[in-house]
Amino acid sequence: MTARELPVLDLVPPGLPPGGPRPAAAAADARVAEFRPEDQALPRFWIWTLGCQMNRSDSEEMAGRLLGAGCAEAAGIEAADLVVINTCAIREAAEAKVIGRQGALAALKAANPALRVVLTGCAVRERDRAGLGRRFPAVDLFLRPDEEPELVERLGLASVQGPVGLRAPSPPSPGRGPAVVARTAATTLVKGVPVSAADHLAGSRADAVASGSVRRESAVAAWLPIIYGCDKTCTYCIVPFSRGPERSRPFDEVVSEARSLAAAGYREITLLGQNVNSYGHDLPAEGRFAHVAEARRAGQRIDRASRPDLAELIEAIGSLRGPDGGPAVPRLRFITSHPWDLSDRLVDAMARTPSVCAALHLPVQSGDDEVLRRMGRQYTVEHYRERLDRIREAIPRLAVSTDVIVGFCGETEAQFEATLRLLETVRYDQVFAAAYSPRPGTPATRLPDDVPAAVKKERLNLLLARQEAIGFARNRERIGSVASVLVDTLEPERIHDHDGEDEPAPATLAGRDPFAAPLADGWVRLAGRSRENRLVHLAGPPTLVGGIVDVRIEAAGPYSLRGVLA
Ligand code: SAH
Ligand code: SF4
Ligand code: F3S
Repeated sequence: MTARELPVLDLVPPGLPPGGPRPAAAAADARVAEFRPEDQALPRFWIWTLGCQMNRSDSEEMAGRLLGAGCAEAAGIEAADLVVINTCAIREAAEAKVIGRQGALAALKAANPALRVVLTGCAVRERDRAGLGRRFPAVDLFLRPDEEPELVERLGLASVQGPVGLRAPSPPSPGRGPAVVARTAATTLVKGVPVSAADHLAGSRADAVASGSVRRESAVAAWLPIIYGCDKTCTYCIVPFSRGPERSRPFDEVVSEARSLAAAGYREITLLGQNVNSYGHDLPAEGRFAHVAEARRAGQRIDRASRPDLAELIEAIGSLRGPDGGPAVPRLRFITSHPWDLSDRLVDAMARTPSVCAALHLPVQSGDDEVLRRMGRQYTVEHYRERLDRIREAIPRLAVSTDVIVGFCGETEAQFEATLRLLETVRYDQVFAAAYSPRPGTPATRLPDDVPAAVKKERLNLLLARQEAIGFARNRERIGSVASVLVDTLEPERIHDHDGEDEPAPATLAGRDPFAAPLADGWVRLAGRSRENRLVHLAGPPTLVGGIVDVRIEAAGPYSLRGVLA
């Protein structure tokens, strides 16, 4: 595999001397500006997050940095002076969603000349930088994912009363995007070795955690990034181009973040990475990990000797103890696992660590070896099944979910049917499926995208319908069992209890519906996730939010369960 390089940015932006004079931001309404002087310097921000959990976690960090700089969160996008769009580029539709909002953003800017728009996330790729201004004309500043820690500084907010203005108000020249400022060098690989500011994401994360400035979405379940980037070469995928090569966070920093989350009352932690199973291979060897020596079972071999891996990490986090002597982190999850290197060490550690939830997301993408080969997935269906059998044997209650791409280049009807058969044999609890969407610059664009859009759609619908039946059957099997649920949602009251849009039709609700009877006095509808990652609805006092309760499952729909407090 060749190392992908993320080029270092021009250090001096066109038309803007670094540190030079910048225009102060105008207040939303000049007539009231003098009464709200703080608004002039410190914008109210709004973050629009698309994409996966990694983006949600990154947005938490950006929100924390902005709050730390003294900015306030706006009540909505219309009230904001600073809009940060954290984009996803996994499929064309994800990018199109943001492109489609450029007109609305321009209108907001016309109404509020102080408004600045920052675009970050996976749509900002170095090799496409020249075209960004054309595709996202309402945007003032583009930041690659690895530049997000610079957000506050690049907005001129680092010095407390700094202006919000980003660039001199020069008339836009045709074909050229807005000026882009970069102060620090990007992550760069030279012959596979990270050089320059390679560790700055881990370092800035550690700083953010130490200063308590990550603004978490939830007070009960937390995201914890452990590895940035991806070294895989799945031919359809844009992520390695957006997020660069793999960089693991130091072992002790991850454990210490987990410890502080536990101390702050978090009950669940999800370790994040594009491939958490790669964790640690790029960290220095250490004597205390001398017993770690397993090479990958499939795909490219890497030297793991004496380096920490995910197995070590989950055991270390699982062994943290709370004041009562019980696990400090009662629920531990991780996503995403690439089937390449789901090691026996990891399987054993999962089975041994009571904190680890009995749920695994193991993307398969296709049930046909030839398609997998063209996708560059590096495993066969047989290898995948072997790994799944091994882990199911070790953790019998394990719920398994997956990702599937339908209509990949050259996928025949028979190859698609092999995927359907795989779904039937594995009996996934949940499947995230999408039609193949060619991404510019990825290797698969050199293959003909020859499955017609209508066929992709047909295959997608067929697959989703099959999976709905499987998921429903899986959920019905849970009726009568007791699930341990982390309650995290207070559901809105319904006027007509059974008219809600998300209510399953009676035909798709099996069992005895606990919501058929009126709720007890003072009780509300609540929802949460079981350890097997199923959505569970229940009724109870609102004080249950944030707690872990036992729920006896009484009814099941294709996508959720309903139960009563056990
Ligand atoms: N790192 C994770 C996945 C990240 S992307 C992993 O390897 O599993 C999430 C999912 O998006 C992928 O699993 C894949 O199913 C889907 N995906 C990625 N690129 C795609 C594309 N070009 N078209 C359609 N789906 C895609
Ligand atoms: Fe993309 Fe493959 Fe990396 Fe997942 S493992 S992020 S699908 S390249
Ligand atoms: Fe999307 Fe980037 Fe996540 S492309 S799925 S936001 S890693």
